[in-house]
Amino acid sequence: MSKKKSKVYVTRRILEPALSILSTECKVTLNKTPRPPSREEILKNVAGKAGILCMLTDTIDAEVIDKAGSNLKVISSYSTGFEHIDIREATARGIYVTYTADILAEATADLAFGLILACARNIVSADGYTKNKKWKTAWSPDLMLGYNIHGSTLGIIGLGRIGAAVARRARGFNMKVLYHNRKRNQSLESELRVTYVELDELLAKSDFVSIHTTLNSDSHQLIDKIKLRLMKKTAFLINTARGQVVKEVDLVRTLKRNQIAGAGLDVFETEPLPRSNPLLKLKNVVLLPHIGSATYQTRSKMAEVAARNLLDVLIEKKEPNPKFLVNPQVKNVRPL
Ligand code: GLV
Repeated sequence: MSKKKSKVYVTRRILEPALSILSTECKVTLNKTPRPPSREEILKNVAGKAGILCMLTDTIDAEVIDKAGSNLKVISSYSTGFEHIDIREATARGIYVTYTADILAEATADLAFGLILACARNIVSADGYTKNKKWKTAWSPDLMLGYNIHGSTLGIIGLGRIGAAVARRARGFNMKVLYHNRKRNQSLESELRVTYVELDELLAKSDFVSIHTTLNSDSHQLIDKIKLRLMKKTAFLINTARGQVVKEVDLVRTLKRNQIAGAGLDVFETEPLPRSNPLLKLKNVVLLPHIGSATYQTRSKMAEVAARNLLDVLIEKKEPNPKFLVNPQVKNVRPL
């Protein structure tokens, strides 16, 4: 007799081959709509499931875990960040929590660099100017002047996989790279030819400050008005990490007063960006809708890894060894 398939809930349609991989092994309940499930939908759909494959927009807290019931063995997040999941609660109940680790590092670094280029060289406003038929003079000595990227100084806050990938790109642009991290990493320093400095020095010396730290209690609103005041008037702030690392009201005020040259932002305190958000009215910003990892290749790989992470826990194996585990301590609570 064939074994009963485990029931799993997938909160959004994800790129193939992930759904096919999951469907061969599990009974999948899928949110087929193009929007995140509401709280009520999550609470209803997790009931009786052995696995949840969620996005960073889904809050998976004690109430959701309760609703799922004692069958729940794994929460697999289709993301690198996992601040939307109550890890402590999951661990205490023997639920494995997995993530997509650093798979998005290179794609996110590409986008961070895209924002550097877009900000420094007015790429977005120049495109609008041209398409809106405002280009009347063949060539002008002072049209759309921006700032050099080559030869300038990049300050990287958080030298993890994404920060390091940005540093590699910066070398190709002949930039000087400074970094600040909770822990200094001397072996990476020589490999990447980057210089460790204290945060205040990084802010004061950089022409581009790019944020790549994870969100934690130390990094929450790390960049506030006091830190922004240290930046050069000609510098740009780039954020592809988490909106909450920057105190947004302080950034808005700084940008309105032209105390820095501008900002390139892919992440915000509240997402999607509320219509009333003052950033939307500013000229010296480039704003993107949280698309750091949004390439066909990366999103498909992330989906596959999230699916395999889930199966690593649900499918019985001789030597179970779930990779990309957020909470390795769970193995003591519920060994596989
Ligand atoms: C994206 O921001 C992620 O955490 O995967």
